[in-house]
Amino acid sequence: MPAETKLLITIDGPAGAGKTTASRRLAARLGYRHIDTGALYRAVAYAARARGIDPEDDAALGRLLAAPTIGFAPAPAEGPARVTVDGEDVTEAIRTPEIAQLASAISARPVVRAGLLGLQRDLGRGKGAVFEGRDMGTVVFPEADLKFFLTASEEARARRRYAEMGGERSGLRFEAVRDELRRRDRRDAERAVAPLRAAADAILIDSSDLTLEQVVEAMLGRVQARLAPPRNG
Ligand code: DC
Repeated sequence: MPAETKLLITIDGPAGAGKTTASRRLAARLGYRHIDTGALYRAVAYAARARGIDPEDDAALGRLLAAPTIGFAPAPAEGPARVTVDGEDVTEAIRTPEIAQLASAISARPVVRAGLLGLQRDLGRGKGAVFEGRDMGTVVFPEADLKFFLTASEEARARRRYAEMGGERSGLRFEAVRDELRRRDRRDAERAVAPLRAAADAILIDSSDLTLEQVVEAMLGRVQARLAPPRNG
């Protein structure tokens, strides 16, 4: 594979494993785009709530997805992608625990998954991208050049998420954050369509005892191995 070849890289895993930070950093190091597909599901959840759509109303969800409601512009540098709903910037507004749970609920609906499939594949054209989500390596890009499954113990993931949310200063209870994470993971892993799981050819990385730098370095090592020209003889 020539050195200038651009790869399509996928990173799947449960909430709080460090996917977003690691994939953002990896993309920046490679000069690739970072596509956070969770933001798409969150945007659909936000739009559904704004319209008063019941999360189990497939017909209404289908109409929502058929309309050009959601805008997504990958960030050029390290930073969040800009997400819009009906032209309104919701980049920050979709980062609440409530929207996370609603995104998890609506993402179990086949009509929602099907509705976002084309958009995700369009974003993957031309490669040179790091896609993060739950089903990137299994369903959306089964032919990806390099697949990672990033995980960590529930305790480590809950600790990170709690710290991200401000820790004790947030006024939140650690147990509440851990329970929220557990509920969401269980639903994401147990749904019938595109459940959270590692692709058979994914490289597993457990980040419980690794720093972000170590995770990114491990991934970069695999990328370099993939890009290195095969040795002859
Ligand atoms: O990655 P995240 O926490 O922002 O994702 C929010 C929810 O969206 C997650 O609980 C499940 C859903 N999701 C999904 O079903 N498939 C993806 N590829 C990404 C996210």
